[in-house]
Amino acid sequence: MILVHPIMQVFFIAMAAVAFILGSQRFRSNHLGHQTRFNWKGHVYVGRIAIVGLILGTVAGIAITPHYFEYTPPVLSHGLLGLVSISFFLVGAVTGYILDKHRKKRKILPLIHGTANTVALILTLNQIKSGYALYISFVGGG
Ligand code: HEM
Ligand code: HEM
Repeated sequence: MILVHPIMQVFFIAMAAVAFILGSQRFRSNHLGHQTRFNWKGHVYVGRIAIVGLILGTVAGIAITPHYFEYTPPVLSHGLLGLVSISFFLVGAVTGYILDKHRKKRKILPLIHGTANTVALILTLNQIKSGYALYISFVGGG
């Protein structure tokens, strides 16, 4: 059971990385004047799965944790930073929804959207490190 949350999160973090790679094509044409092809539908598709999956995976983490751990500071720091990252993803999800539903030429909102999601993605990379340590502390009997 303890592996449900880590496996979900690693999988959906990978999807978020794919969304980032697709989104960076848009960033290059939108702000850097490069000629690129942006896979709009593909980006929205993987981005949506990534964010919904990460939120569900986080809920699973919160639900499962009390069965394995006392609430000690290391658990909390992984948990708290996790919730911070999810808040950034929520901003990314709401702005992404608006960008997709009401399509027009924009600069600022895509920038807010891309920044929020990129910050969230970087935080989730740290979650892999802190989450792995948490897992080892459990398996190692700590
Ligand atoms: C982990 C998830 C995601 C990441 C890392 C991400 C990242 C990005 C980035 C970097 C851009 C370029 C922004 C710019 O040009 O300044 C972008 C654009 C865009 N994203 Fe996302 N995104 C994610 C999820 C989503 C979701 C869930 C949706 C829709 C529901 C979405 C819809 C869009 C749209 C429509 C654009 C183009 C906006 C425009 O230029 O008008 N994205 N995204
Ligand atoms: C987006 C990425 C992630 C988020 C948002 C996240 C968030 C959380 C949260 C909120 C908790 C509950 C902590 C508490 O209630 O104090 C938790 C528990 C935990 N997380 Fe994560 N986490 C992420 C990724 C990971 C990864 C990649 C791993 C492992 C490599 C991991 C391993 C764990 C473990 C072992 C627990 C405790 C037991 C369990 O629920 O399985 N997490 N996480």
